[in-house]
Amino acid sequence: MPASPPSVPPRPLEGLRVIIGVCAGIAAYKAAHVVRGLTERGADVRVVPTKASLEFVGISTWEALSHNPVRTSVFEDVDSVAHVRLGQEADAVVVVPATADFMARARMGRADDLLTATLLVTRAPVILAPAMHTEMWEHPATRENVDVLRSRGVRVIEPASGRLTGTDTGVGRLPEPEVIVHYVESVLAAGSRTCDLEGTRVVITAGGTREALDPVRVLTNHSSGKQGAALARAAYVRGASVSLVLAGSHIEPPAGVDVVRVESAKELAAEVRERESSADVLIMAAAVSDFTPEPSRSKIKKKAGESGLTLHLVETEDILRGLVERRQAGERPFVICGFAAETGDEHSSALAHATRKARAKGADLLAFNDVSENAFGADTNALTFLDAAGEIRGATRGTKDEVSHAMLDHVASLLKRERG
Ligand code: CTP
Repeated sequence: MPASPPSVPPRPLEGLRVIIGVCAGIAAYKAAHVVRGLTERGADVRVVPTKASLEFVGISTWEALSHNPVRTSVFEDVDSVAHVRLGQEADAVVVVPATADFMARARMGRADDLLTATLLVTRAPVILAPAMHTEMWEHPATRENVDVLRSRGVRVIEPASGRLTGTDTGVGRLPEPEVIVHYVESVLAAGSRTCDLEGTRVVITAGGTREALDPVRVLTNHSSGKQGAALARAAYVRGASVSLVLAGSHIEPPAGVDVVRVESAKELAAEVRERESSADVLIMAAAVSDFTPEPSRSKIKKKAGESGLTLHLVETEDILRGLVERRQAGERPFVICGFAAETGDEHSSALAHATRKARAKGADLLAFNDVSENAFGADTNALTFLDAAGEIRGATRGTKDEVSHAMLDHVASLLKRERG
């Protein structure tokens, strides 16, 4: 029987209205890519630029990209009460870039232009993507404004580090547009979920390990790292402090997440060990190589008269099982989750393989996906959750952001049970 693809709309934001506020910063041009990314995913985008931001990017750009008219003043469209309607009808309000001045005004509750008025009216999630020089970001006034805004439930994305407007580098750079679009998607996928993972330290591994054969060649697998990255993003959106150990993947890591990049199974195991003692939750989403070769120092050459090459591979450490064993031996409880990407074969169904794996590994939660149905690198997934006894605890299907939130619901209830 041919595999049926997950029934998920290709435009996950269809039917949702997103307001993009644009402030007067040089990064305003990057907001154009955010508008494009969100409209491509089906969102109905309304751009509300501040007057000063039009010095950087003009109205025509926003109207062309959003396919909607653009207003900046509360005195335009007065008959339709635009300054109230925009905020009331929004599913999310996103400000890209959010300048220090804008955050100060938002903190004070000013309503002196259409964007700040929209912020006061809306009850939808508000997301600010700040961009400014390091000194401005680190100034006590800005720190305090960010703290106050966050305490009111406003989501202020951590700015990235890197090249700023001049020749200087530091914290304060706008996260890449793709990262902001993914963040908005995850917030919308979270729906009514609150910051239930506030104060929780989550370590997630993702991607596929790469085992060197020689200085040129590697043994690896098809894992893209997207599911693990979506989990990291979802955990950050829900208030957790997140470390992502990313193996061999070139994806742009999520905003606000501490990322460490590794190559081999051995490096991944070492990074997990370093972090496990301070973690409340460990999620092994990485596709870890089960075997590794003794790498040759020089490039392996073809040999005359030999028609093949025999590789000797040795087993790598089973990191997930090791975590469960160390937890049993230790005193500190933490939640452990794994993944099982399976296919059926002549002996067993994919689910039967996963059930055996759940019992053998002993993780609190094992997320099984049938990889003959779900392509590697896809933006959607279908997961079945099994406990350590192999019992099915639930199932979910959707975008990788949606299934991540469903998985974190299980993690949140495991944490609650553990904390009594
Ligand atoms: N895993 C791990 N360390 C390994 C191999 C896998 O921690 N050396 C973890 C993966 O991150 C995943 C789970 O174990 O969470 C299941 O991985 P999988 O490759 O499906 O299982 P294996 O134990 O490798 O069994 P097999 O490949 O024989 O199916």
